[in-house]
Amino acid sequence: MGRYAQTCPIIYGAGTISLLGEEVKKLGCSKVMVVSDKIVSEKQTYATCKKSLLAAGLEVVEFTEIIPDPPDYMINRGGELAKAEKIDGIIAIGGGSPMDAAKGINVLVNNPGTVNQYFGNPFYTPGVPVVMVVTTAGTGSESTSVGVITDTANNVKNSVICNATLGILDPEATLTAPPELTAQTGMDTFAHAAEAITAKIPNPKSELLASNAINKVVANLPLAIADGQNIEARGELLLASNFAGIAFNDALVHLGHAIAHAVGAKFHITHGIVCALALPEVMKYAADINEQKVKIVGEAMGIRFSGQESPKEIGELVAQGIRGFAKNLDIKSFEALGIARKELLEITPLVFKDACYNFVPKELTKAEVEVILGNMYDNYK
Ligand SMILES: [Fe+2]
Repeated sequence: MGRYAQTCPIIYGAGTISLLGEEVKKLGCSKVMVVSDKIVSEKQTYATCKKSLLAAGLEVVEFTEIIPDPPDYMINRGGELAKAEKIDGIIAIGGGSPMDAAKGINVLVNNPGTVNQYFGNPFYTPGVPVVMVVTTAGTGSESTSVGVITDTANNVKNSVICNATLGILDPEATLTAPPELTAQTGMDTFAHAAEAITAKIPNPKSELLASNAINKVVANLPLAIADGQNIEARGELLLASNFAGIAFNDALVHLGHAIAHAVGAKFHITHGIVCALALPEVMKYAADINEQKVKIVGEAMGIRFSGQESPKEIGELVAQGIRGFAKNLDIKSFEALGIARKELLEITPLVFKDACYNFVPKELTKAEVEVILGNMYDNYK
């Protein structure tokens, strides 16, 4: 049994952020809360969006204090502001953190209590329309049903269940993303796609979109890093991020993201970096279960197989390909990030506690997870 969703409508193309105000008005909104972070709120994209909202006659309340891995208390503060201001729409402008924060705030708009009460719970009074203006190509959050929030009481990542109403993918809004951020978010896209293809319950629509997302990432990420102003490459990466988002919304991500969430919560390393470091070893693990799916990942990357490879060899080839790609993008190793091997292995129990672990294609023992973490450390220097 499988199913696939049709989630959030998307407008894409250069210059489309100027349509924001009119699009929000079409949704019936009159007073909106803009959710963003400090860096983005000082950029031209933010100013253009605000101008467009005001020009359409909308009242604007600004909440621009979102930090990476948005913590629960921040979402609760946003929720209180949204209620006090009686807003009837939410606009996220930013990357994954503002987008996920906007979802968390939306859960609180028409409901009592704190966001923590709604983790994993889709049964709440629906909120208001949420429009996402995407400024980094990575999470695909505009097209997924989850918003990842940090549960500060338990120091773990958790999720609210919420869909966006409309996404705007304008490559001009991503031109100022620096190379490092572009690389990290691009590798997050790659991981979403590769994990979706190798999911516990494979999904034909997910596979199609995820293969194309990998294709686009491999072809365009180096170009966008070399020249941040390459609008075609930026546009392709936004589509890749969106396609991978749609793909994993149905097929779900698994071991790589369970590891990424556990490592991220403990060491506060950027999500995309851990995804990139986990992915080669996760592909080796996946090849042991269904090598044909890992082959699809490899083919989407441009790896040519002779057809004579064993499952183990397929896993190795794809793992090596991903490591080489990540190296070329200057993705740092755990060692370079100042993490000791022993410390990394200590997060093993957290991997099993992460919600994404529920979706692994094959259960693992504690010792097996330790081997995977150790290999992540040793095989990428
Ligand atoms: Fe991710």
